[in-house]
Amino acid sequence: MIYLDNAATSYPKPEKVYSEINRCMREYCANPGRGGHSMSIASGSAVLEVREIIGAFFNFANPMQLCFTKNATEALNVAIKGLLESGDHVITTSMEHNSVLRPLKTLERDSGIELTILHGNDYGEIAPEDVKKSIKKNTKLIACTLSSNVNGIVMPVKELGKLARESGIIFLVDASQGAGSIKIDVNEMNIDVLAFPGHKGLLGPQGIGGLYVGDDVKLKPIMQGGTGSSSENLYQPEVMPDILESGTLNTPGIVGLGCGIGFINSFGIDSLKVYKYELIKRLHEGLSEMKQIKLYSKNDIKNNSGIVALNVDGVDSTEVSYVLDKAYGIATRAGLHCAPLAHERLGTLKTGIVRLSVGCFNTLEEIDLTIKAFNEIVSSL
Ligand SMILES: Cc1ncc(COP(=O)(O)O)c(C=O)c1O
Repeated sequence: MIYLDNAATSYPKPEKVYSEINRCMREYCANPGRGGHSMSIASGSAVLEVREIIGAFFNFANPMQLCFTKNATEALNVAIKGLLESGDHVITTSMEHNSVLRPLKTLERDSGIELTILHGNDYGEIAPEDVKKSIKKNTKLIACTLSSNVNGIVMPVKELGKLARESGIIFLVDASQGAGSIKIDVNEMNIDVLAFPGHKGLLGPQGIGGLYVGDDVKLKPIMQGGTGSSSENLYQPEVMPDILESGTLNTPGIVGLGCGIGFINSFGIDSLKVYKYELIKRLHEGLSEMKQIKLYSKNDIKNNSGIVALNVDGVDSTEVSYVLDKAYGIATRAGLHCAPLAHERLGTLKTGIVRLSVGCFNTLEEIDLTIKAFNEIVSSL
């Protein structure tokens, strides 16, 4: 199998991710923060260590500003629903995933928030001036993806963060695509709230994600429950991360995520970015020679987080993806990728798109075999 579906979830994982999850479950997987015995202390220390690894990775000083979630979707819901109230205005983009759009559209319909969705250029890239023009007196939040999961376009997050900070607006970034190959510094980028999944570019297992919440941001918890702290209190503790982190944590997932990030750190995030771009460049150049293929991604290291989005003339994206899988053993994703407005922007709402997304374990040889497969597919039309 040539796995080109890393935007959905990365595969394979670094060896240490598998081995440490196994070791954790066998040797120290007691309930972290829920007991005074040695094994509970060991699992609590392992969780704290990963909070610190993540804090260093995204450059925030206090590891307690991180709450673990089960994925990016949960993190985004915790942020959006914990922040917004009737009368608040939000600016977002058409390139967002449904995990941003659905909570926002639901709050717009049911809870009286106002929503502005900006459409950007032909690739969906947003101009900071358009965001600036959309700011109103009641704008509370700018919510933007770091990179689109449909075509990999990278948003001008640093400029948007500066604008948000100067305007006193909270800046939420969905780092689901790009975390692990694009350097994210929440201070330098003025990011107030950062949501991320552990299972994509950060190379951890499925079932773990997180939300960084800046010191000045107060979120209402959307869930209440046991935290292992202040048990006498019948209300949720107000301190981070307990205010947002009810219930037993996914300790094996957390330690696996720590090892995934450790792997990225050992190579250096910039080296991984360059390597992934080498794969994207070769793929993009090979495919752009075929006149029956239309490409929707930029071939540019600054503007592509690792995706080549395409369509083959006159063939439905699901059919192309099916042939790639069944005849060539190449895993891709077709359809709308949970991002309908992105497809509206790109003009592909009816056809969908074939998405090829590379990971740091793909090789140039695999890319060449993929180009060869496309050559055969288009020649047979
Ligand atoms: C841009 C973007 N945001 C959010 C998500 C949701 O991630 P998860 O499935 O981990 O909740 C995805 C998943 O593909 C995504 O690509």
